[in-house]
Amino acid sequence: METQVAIIGAGISGLAACKHCKSKGLNPIVFESEASVGGVWRKTIGITRLQTPKKIYQFSDFPWPPSVTDEFPPQSQVIQYLQSYAQHFDLLQHIRFGCQVVSLRYDGPSDEEMRAWSLWGGKGDPFDTKGKWHVTVQDQNTLSTKVYSVSFVILCFGKYNGLPDIPEFPKDKGPEVFQGKVMHSADYSAMDSTDAANLVRGKRVAVVGFRKSAVDIALECSTVNGPEHPCTVVYRTGHWGIPSVLPMGISIPFPYGTRFSELMVHKPDESFALSLLASILTPLSWGISKSIEIYISSYFRLGKFGTVPKHRLSKEIMSCHSVKLSEEFYDMVEKGSIKLKKSKAFCFSKKGILFDSEVESADVDLVILATGFKYFEKLKDIFVSSTFQSDITTAPGLYRNCIHPRVPQLAIIGFSESISNLHNAEMNCLWLSELLDGTFNLPSIKEMDDDIAKWDKYMKEYSGEYHYKRCIAGLQIWFNDQLCKDIGWFPKRKKGFMAELFEPYGPTDYVQS
Ligand SMILES: Cc1cc2nc3c(=O)[nH]c(=O)nc-3n(C[C@H](O)[C@H](O)[C@H](O)COP(=O)(O)OP(=O)(O)OC[C@H]3O[C@@H](n4cnc5c(N)ncnc54)[C@H](O)[C@@H]3O)c2cc1C
Ligand SMILES: NC(=O)c1ccc[n+]([C@@H]2O[C@H](COP(=O)([O-])OP(=O)(O)OC[C@H]3O[C@@H](n4cnc5c(N)ncnc54)[C@H](OP(=O)(O)O)[C@@H]3O)[C@@H](O)[C@H]2O)c1
Repeated sequence: METQVAIIGAGISGLAACKHCKSKGLNPIVFESEASVGGVWRKTIGITRLQTPKKIYQFSDFPWPPSVTDEFPPQSQVIQYLQSYAQHFDLLQHIRFGCQVVSLRYDGPSDEEMRAWSLWGGKGDPFDTKGKWHVTVQDQNTLSTKVYSVSFVILCFGKYNGLPDIPEFPKDKGPEVFQGKVMHSADYSAMDSTDAANLVRGKRVAVVGFRKSAVDIALECSTVNGPEHPCTVVYRTGHWGIPSVLPMGISIPFPYGTRFSELMVHKPDESFALSLLASILTPLSWGISKSIEIYISSYFRLGKFGTVPKHRLSKEIMSCHSVKLSEEFYDMVEKGSIKLKKSKAFCFSKKGILFDSEVESADVDLVILATGFKYFEKLKDIFVSSTFQSDITTAPGLYRNCIHPRVPQLAIIGFSESISNLHNAEMNCLWLSELLDGTFNLPSIKEMDDDIAKWDKYMKEYSGEYHYKRCIAGLQIWFNDQLCKDIGWFPKRKKGFMAELFEPYGPTDYVQS
């Protein structure tokens, strides 16, 4: 069978894309730069676990095995689960390991012709087009390159790998003047646990950042060094850490992942009645957020440590910034094994780090920058065409979170986020496979632009300055409803009115019949 579809990456997004393409009789070829499946789960720091409950971080048709009893399984079990998924659905035969895609070049109509299109790809059909993608692939062993011509590309190469986001510093105030060592969290995570422990042992370590990588690395360092050599967490924004369980045994999807919780949120394309209801229920939403904040503040003693965030918990959740915080983190702060240093900005001196306007630098030996990744830049760089590069970066919103209206014959999976990124990616793959199979047609480019703009407005309203994360955590069910309607599925997936309104939705609600 002719290979029509190339998938880039074999993390959860690429695996799900491959499985769903296969189910439609397509014969995808998956290029994966590493030697095995799993993406970010292949190698993490030792203490990494799922921070999403496993019942929603699972594929709809592939439950976790009964042997995995933990609600938040460790990395070793997550990677085994992903490997089993690949084996069960016979995906490995499609994957070319050690094959890094270095560029994507579109060979087809001119930019002027494409600009005149009113339908995606000219006719709105993913395959009935005049263009082809030339995918340049580098073999990681021989470094030789080969070009593959395909009709459709599914980009699943992940947000949290590749280009680290290294802060910029004024001249003579960056890492170059520092006598100690500076590394990014990705390099630390890539190390063997023993080597990582040896690296930090007996050293004065500073970790920059206050989200998941930072707090986990600080915990690891403090476990190795104790209060004799405290690890300093340098942060500019306080964040709401989420405990494993909230009061009454509920976990985080409950207050944010039900149809009822979504009634409190203004939605793209909502009716007047729904808009009115969302306005009426706003105080209730505020009250729920506030009561969980009070609980978290007291649970982690945030007041005592001066780390009560200035923003609402709901904003943290709805911008996909919430971090499941280990119960031990503030115990380590209390013991003096972790020190917290809030500073709007920092730079380097010869012996350490200089905070804000302080004159004395804090002496350190090792600085670990847990400052995230530049994922839009990575996305831009994969395209040869400067027009596509600019389209992707100036309007990063995607129709149904995976189609760029001006980039034909290509879908991007894994760049929008939710409480469970696995579930979110799988839903997009299901929808995309139906599009590729001809179950439905895309609307016009203008209609797609309008829809993206409505979602953008929602994201700006609820995620504020973090809207770039394309987070749909506050409206996953509403979003899934749209996907279901497109592919001809009944969106209400529960049995009974009360279940529909109050039971959290999850992957098993979308098992393919
Ligand atoms: C340590 C860690 C823990 C996380 N925990 C959670 C969690 O608990 N819950 C949650 O919802 N989300 C979590 N996330 C977010 C996570 O990114 C997603 O859940 C998900 O694993 C992303 O899968 P992906 O396939 O989209 O991307 P990735 O997992 O990044 O996979 C991308 C794949 O593409 C390959 N690749 C990259 N570039 C190329 C190229 N040019 N050519 C060929 N191959 C390429 C990479 O090698 C990789 O295998 C976590 C992220 C990290 C880093
Ligand atoms: N399951 C797990 O256990 C686990 C483990 C690791 C990572 N992850 C996931 O992986 C993804 C990436 O997480 P991450 O923690 O590596 O990155 P991240 O979420 O992007 O966080 C980056 C941190 O660096 C800070 N920062 C960025 N630039 C800075 C600068 N110039 N100066 C000071 N601080 C700066 C940010 O500050 P602000 O807060 O002010 O923006 C933020 O605290 C997330 O989705 C995360 O949930 C999960």
